[in-house]
Amino acid sequence: MPEWAALGKHREQLADTHLRELFAADADRGSRFTLQVGDLHLDYSKHLVTDETLALLRELAAATDVAGLRDAMFRGEKINITEKRAVLHTALRAPRDAVIDVDGENVVPAVHAVLGKMGAFSERIRSGSWTGHTGKPIKNVVNIGIGGSDLGPAMAYEVLRSYTARDLTFRFVSNVDGADLHEAVRDLDAAETLFIIASKTFTTIETITNATSARTWLLDELKAGQEAVAKHFVALSTNAEKVDEFGIDTANMFEFWDWVGGRYSYDSAIGLSLMIAIGPDRFREMLDGFHLVDEHFRTAPPEENAPLLLGLLGVWYGGFFDAQSHAVLPYSHYLSKFTAYLQQLDMESNGKSVDRDGNRVDWQTGPVVWGTPGTNGQHAYYQLIHQGTKIIPADFIGFAQPVPGLQPGLVAQHDLLMANFFAQTQALAFGKTPDEVREEGVAEELVPHKTFVGNHPTTTILAKELTPSVLGQLIALYEHKVFVQGAVWNIDSFDQWGVELGKVLAKRIEPVLTEGTGGEELDSSTAALVAAYRTLRGR
Ligand code: F6P
Repeated sequence: MPEWAALGKHREQLADTHLRELFAADADRGSRFTLQVGDLHLDYSKHLVTDETLALLRELAAATDVAGLRDAMFRGEKINITEKRAVLHTALRAPRDAVIDVDGENVVPAVHAVLGKMGAFSERIRSGSWTGHTGKPIKNVVNIGIGGSDLGPAMAYEVLRSYTARDLTFRFVSNVDGADLHEAVRDLDAAETLFIIASKTFTTIETITNATSARTWLLDELKAGQEAVAKHFVALSTNAEKVDEFGIDTANMFEFWDWVGGRYSYDSAIGLSLMIAIGPDRFREMLDGFHLVDEHFRTAPPEENAPLLLGLLGVWYGGFFDAQSHAVLPYSHYLSKFTAYLQQLDMESNGKSVDRDGNRVDWQTGPVVWGTPGTNGQHAYYQLIHQGTKIIPADFIGFAQPVPGLQPGLVAQHDLLMANFFAQTQALAFGKTPDEVREEGVAEELVPHKTFVGNHPTTTILAKELTPSVLGQLIALYEHKVFVQGAVWNIDSFDQWGVELGKVLAKRIEPVLTEGTGGEELDSSTAALVAAYRTLRGR
């Protein structure tokens, strides 16, 4: 495309232009290259861009019709072309009076009906009026799900921990490794435990296996029959038939729909564990935060559109700097699972190598997304970001206020945390020149080692405090960023065929491991490994 070529030429002109020069040339850069979206203050001044870069990127967005695809998504058109599905996670947070049609039917009333049902159920658990098989109130909630049916609620529960009902225990089981369920239930009283089986399809082998084992554990512990299941198991799914087959009363099923992608689903019924933890009102605040950014994305002009900007910056680094990865570095302990959540959102969405028509692309698509809370990273992998040979664009996320309820003595630590937050993006951008190192009296042979080239791009996202609404705003920001990138790269961001092959092969290999039968079609490496496993397993 001419717009892509123009960016390539511009990249050559920029060559090694340093952020030091860009800041020196424009005294207002630090205030000009910022955006305010809801409670989120975004600083993108420390990016390797000029006004011209941004204009050229917006031209690319116009040429690839990002806005057209966005509007089609919000209208409920079937933009997930390989699965012929609408992509309407935005409907999950739409206000009650919104009208969004899928196949001629307004889906908003059903969304609010399920939210109402979830709210009533959550209140019963929180108040203790829902009792288990033996009459005891529920004290423990165990969510069993995987991928989008686990990462969202598990992440959000951590993020909003200070808003949770502290008298309830929450656990999240995803791994088919029996150790996960074992550790989750070993100290729980079954009579006080509720299992939430979260699976869009209700066919996912890991989840159904864990759910079956959980049922066995419960019935054994309670010395009860199948009738105990109704009081201790609920399901979150689109598949009533399979839920019923499993033995969960469909009256205890919280529904969602095929137009909600797994990785876009934690604000649907999949968020039930979170709603029990924080209560329906806080959950609603979170949905309102999502909706605020949805509206921003839908209506803000390109120059002020934050998801558009963040998406285009990623296209810039992947396409023209050959950046392979993107770090997300939160300066909040509560965001410890945030990046893991974004990994599925981003990498399952944009880890594609054919375009929407099935042609192989010859441009970079989704990056490797990684990161952990920033201060810990500083003492582990930041060395490579600062002085390694790779370009790693990074998002820094921080908050002005510590979370409510922190012990007064610990509140004082917040400024130290945030001093690190600001220092790191400064060091990454501006580095330290050899002359600056020499001025400190460093021996000449150490000067190259102590020099920081700088010029490492970062986005800073700063909010006043980490509330349910702010969490919703952040997630929607990333959802739409991922959308923008998929639109520019012309890929289907909403299917995930890449996870299928491994599932099929695992099904074939399992009987070889357990019974030693079959496996003739295995390659020599896998066959030898399987044989070694069987020997070590004592078979
Ligand atoms: O295997 C990938 C995937 O389909 C994800 O997209 C999804 O979030 C996860 O598995 C779990 O699926 P389900 O909710 O149907 O159990």
